[in-house]
Amino acid sequence: MPETLGACVVELDLSQPLSVTQTDMLLLALGRYGVLEFPKQSLTTAQLKAFSQNFGELYISPGGRAQAPGFPEVMILSNMVENGQPLGLKDAGQSWHTDMSYAPVIALANILYGTKIPQREGKPLGATQFRNMHAVYEDLSEDIKSTLADKTITHDFNKFWDMMRARPGSTRPPLSEKERNARPPARHPAFLTHPLTGKKVLYANPGYAVEINGLPKAQSDEILEELFARQLEEKYLYTHAWNKDSVLMWDNIGTTHNAVADYGPDEHRYMKRCQVMAGHLFGPGGTQEPLLFNPRT
Ligand code: SIN
Repeated sequence: MPETLGACVVELDLSQPLSVTQTDMLLLALGRYGVLEFPKQSLTTAQLKAFSQNFGELYISPGGRAQAPGFPEVMILSNMVENGQPLGLKDAGQSWHTDMSYAPVIALANILYGTKIPQREGKPLGATQFRNMHAVYEDLSEDIKSTLADKTITHDFNKFWDMMRARPGSTRPPLSEKERNARPPARHPAFLTHPLTGKKVLYANPGYAVEINGLPKAQSDEILEELFARQLEEKYLYTHAWNKDSVLMWDNIGTTHNAVADYGPDEHRYMKRCQVMAGHLFGPGGTQEPLLFNPRT
């Protein structure tokens, strides 16, 4: 179980193909450390996609927003504007959440490649923060553990979207009916067995979790608030300050994350992102039925 998040993988050139052994070692490291930084990379969009595909199927956003030209699996996250047009999504991930928890097939990992990192007075801005959901689960009271042992939680895409839209200055349009229908709410165990570690994690993030199924609404609201507050304790936090040209890969099952929006419109941040799905790590029962990862060599 990761007690502390974050490790640096040096001297691995991600533009080159990975062997099966390297891929499996990285998956084990991802389970162990939750967040992996690969410094000093020089990658084309095709190479970022090829590296990401080693770990599973890549997600393609149904809205088609902010895709890299010719690469629907690669999204651009950026506050940059060129010829009056935004180059990417400018407020992606700017609140605590876990990507894709609202979907029946959840995400295993996010892989971001940062080629422009805003700086002020020599210090990098636009950090990405993480919380350790293995450790949060371990520390829960026996009472909460037994109340939620067999419970599922509903996760809803609209919760995060509406929260972001309500922020001053948001340019997010309301979701169309088609976009809402493309992402109906999904249920997952409150305590999910992580396929890479075999340990339980708390799978309830403030961005998307809306209801504990099978409890009266007031009790569900109260416990969710308590779970969200618990996660915010300092001891679970890792803040990643970006280095230009690093690739950051993180475990999307065992962590929650937050993109820190502490930079202005003229302080440019530019990231390419792939999302690796976790479908191959679960049986027909979906997240109820994890298939524990076995290294192939
Ligand atoms: C995300 O939530 O995937 C974006 C994180 C970031 O831009 O730091």
